Amino acid sequence: MEIFTSISSWQNWRNVIPSTQNVGLVPTMGALHAGHQSLITRCRQDNDICTISLFVNPTQFNDENDLANYPNTFEADRKLCEAEGVDAIFFPDYSELYPDDYRYRVSENEVSPLLCGTHRPGHFDGVLSVVMKLLNLVRPQRAYFGEKDWQQLQLVKGMVEAFFMPLIIVGCPTVRDIDRLAISSRNLHLSKRHREKAARFPKILAAQAPAEEVARLLEADGFEVDYVQDFKGRRCAAIHCGGVRLIDNMPLYEGNQK
Ligand code: PAJ
Repeated sequence: MEIFTSISSWQNWRNVIPSTQNVGLVPTMGALHAGHQSLITRCRQDNDICTISLFVNPTQFNDENDLANYPNTFEADRKLCEAEGVDAIFFPDYSELYPDDYRYRVSENEVSPLLCGTHRPGHFDGVLSVVMKLLNLVRPQRAYFGEKDWQQLQLVKGMVEAFFMPLIIVGCPTVRDIDRLAISSRNLHLSKRHREKAARFPKILAAQAPAEEVARLLEADGFEVDYVQDFKGRRCAAIHCGGVRLIDNMPLYEGNQK
């Protein structure tokens, strides 16, 4: 497995891959867990070459504490990638990926301000900008994103369409813990008590009731609710549990559509 920190060494490697070989990319911010692992497995299955990027992207953090507390687990990530048969890790730093210091950015103005965008100003500009950079550098035939971040997945698909980018965006199902909580690096910040309580979040979200009623049920259970909203066939929600922000979404059933 190759590990590249500089764009020039990455490009030297990328440029000699024959055009008959398909390249897949899994963009991540590291701190890899079973959710990321499922994307890698799918990428491995679909492509001749499986690549992954590990980059904690500062431009998508609207909260400095959130960025400062983001886990750094490079050694464990490297081992997981090796075990999963990843061919190459792209692990750049900020100055490599942002030579313009974020003077240029990709901005979407219809879906980005909704849902998570309402509570995290500028977040999706940061996400789309870094994903555009990564896709341009890696030039994959396919890139893999989790349905866990439903709004992000829709926005990335929309960007690829809008800019005629020659690749397929593959959405992958949310991986959940045994108690149904969506796996996330943020779950590590939950105390034992709050981790147990967090399991109530997906259960209440699945209730066959209108979104407003689900928000009330979550509040009654002691969660601080950012939003519960129906969007593109999904019920999406963000809450705070013991100071940790958690997001989730599920397909809308006939029963819980108004
Ligand atoms: P990160 O949070 O590291 O997630 C990387 C990818 O893993 C995303 O596509 C995310 O949806 C997916 N993922 C996370 N948890 C998952 C789960 N439980 N089940 C399935 N997939 C899951 O999302 C980002 O990084 C960044 O915004 C990024 C796209 C890398 C841009 O910086």
